[in-house]
Amino acid sequence: MSSSPSGEFGQPGAVVVPGAAISARIIELAKDIKESCRPDQLPLVLIGVLKGSAFFTTDLGRVLTIPVEFDFVSVRSYGRSTESSGVVELVKDVSNPIAGRHVLMVEDIIDTGLTTDFLYTHIARHGPASLRLVTLLNKPARRQREVRIDFCGFDIPDQFVVGYGLDYAEQWRNLPDVRVLEGVVAS
Ligand code: IMP
Ligand code: MG
Repeated sequence: MSSSPSGEFGQPGAVVVPGAAISARIIELAKDIKESCRPDQLPLVLIGVLKGSAFFTTDLGRVLTIPVEFDFVSVRSYGRSTESSGVVELVKDVSNPIAGRHVLMVEDIIDTGLTTDFLYTHIARHGPASLRLVTLLNKPARRQREVRIDFCGFDIPDQFVVGYGLDYAEQWRNLPDVRVLEGVVAS
């Protein structure tokens, strides 16, 4: 992997989840999600959480062979840090009304659970008929809020990871694999 422009963004280290394993798991998740939806619950509204889950949301949507709609919300909980600030801010809300709709939130990773907890409350206020959650990655070690996960790609150890949508200071999202970030002191 080439080094970052100024060297302040760390370096991707060991692969935690290879891109090929992500693709294979997404096909399994799509099958589980499809099987869990009754015809009267369709189209399913996928709400991706920007920016981290943009890759996962579109890749999952592509292999879901049921009618789906896409929307995105954007939240901020991390600055240039590997620790959650604990403060979650809504940056962008859904674009279309979801009242009475069946919604699946699509998360990249659940760490402390603060972001997901905030989003469950926020999206529930829009009055969906149902609200479920799929996350690609789950780091259960540092949970501060218990959140219900309906579909989970991979449980991973308590390490800061980058790639496949996940960033450190906006870098490394476009790596095909999920890898441990090295060379940055946790702050
Ligand atoms: P939580 O609120 O602590 O659960 O963290 C949720 C958000 O923090 C995720 O949606 C990510 O944007 C970010 N995050 C948590 N862990 C990691 C990581 O290991 N790498 C990159 N981003 C992370
Ligand atoms: Mg981030």
